[in-house]
Amino acid sequence: MVCFSCFSPGGKGVRRIEIENGTRSGSRHSADSAGSGRGKEESGDNGKGIRSTAKSCECWELIRVFNVSVNGKGKATLNDTKGNSTRSSGARSFTFRELAAATRGFREVNLIGEGGFGRVYKGRLETGEVVAIKQLDHDGVQGFKEFLVEVLMLSLLHHSNLVTLIGYCTDGDQRLLVYEYMPMGSLEDHLFDLDPNKEPLNWNTRIKVAVGAARGLEHLHCKADPPVIYRDLKSANILLDNDFNPKLSDFGLAKLGPVGDNTHVSTRVMGTYGYCAPEYAMSGKLTLKSDIYSFGVVLLELITGRRAIDCSKKQGEQNLVSWVC
Ligand SMILES: Nc1ncnc2c1ncn2[C@@H]1O[C@H](COP(=O)(O)OP(=O)(O)O)[C@@H](O)[C@H]1O
Ligand SMILES: [Mg+2]
Repeated sequence: MVCFSCFSPGGKGVRRIEIENGTRSGSRHSADSAGSGRGKEESGDNGKGIRSTAKSCECWELIRVFNVSVNGKGKATLNDTKGNSTRSSGARSFTFRELAAATRGFREVNLIGEGGFGRVYKGRLETGEVVAIKQLDHDGVQGFKEFLVEVLMLSLLHHSNLVTLIGYCTDGDQRLLVYEYMPMGSLEDHLFDLDPNKEPLNWNTRIKVAVGAARGLEHLHCKADPPVIYRDLKSANILLDNDFNPKLSDFGLAKLGPVGDNTHVSTRVMGTYGYCAPEYAMSGKLTLKSDIYSFGVVLLELITGRRAIDCSKKQGEQNLVSWVC
């Protein structure tokens, strides 16, 4: 049984979870999940005969489905159908030196955020383009896997409501991602714990954000082929441009969805407390509807101005969904 207890009171406390047997590491938190063995991850037959194990998970499915060749730890090149290397993604490879220069040595003053993956810095490329650079914490294999899935997914998915990946760095042990810079930060920054001098979002903007996020999700579910299940929809992952146009970010947990007659893919449960659909958390059966549940939680946050999980609230009000329903 999965417990959605909250464990990081106040502030930006809702963290990504990995629900499996027992262990906790870094910001990922684990609990026992209905029958899914530790480290074992299976995808239902997706119509292409692909089954995955802990070693051949999302990234290997992607590599098979999209014909991507990988060299070394997480270095991937998209191939066309004739096997020729292509730059169809538009994402380019950066050296660590280039990104260090862009952030002036990853100075604290350039730090704009920190999440489950690592720290995020504002930077300026040699071309003058302003970017956000996310540096992976060296906390193990899971991060490398998410890095590769993120690069592959964002290389293949392009939509005005999905963040653009400009490039990546795989120098030595370094793993960094370079994104378009989103000047207004995340939706979370505009909903909760506002500075007294900061205006709350008006209703029109809230609706605009909801509609844009829905369009991004629709692209993943209905336009991408095979469909993509995002698995990490939350207000912290909805980034905003200067006009409050939203873009979904963080595709490290994304999974290829079911195809053909299959209704779900079976997987180790991952997501974020408060946003993860309970039926998925309890069964490990992931469907497109799991994202719709998370979208519903974001809608509730937009309407109420309350966090999905807020431990500073009294008992009975800490979980937004149970408080509302
Ligand atoms: N492309 C970007 N442009 C501007 N700010 C960003 C960008 N990506 C991330 N950030 C900032 O960094 C913070 C942390 O991002 P992230 O590592 O994705 O954390 P989380 O795990 O909370 O989603 C975000 O909340 C946002 O404020
Ligand atoms: Mg994020």
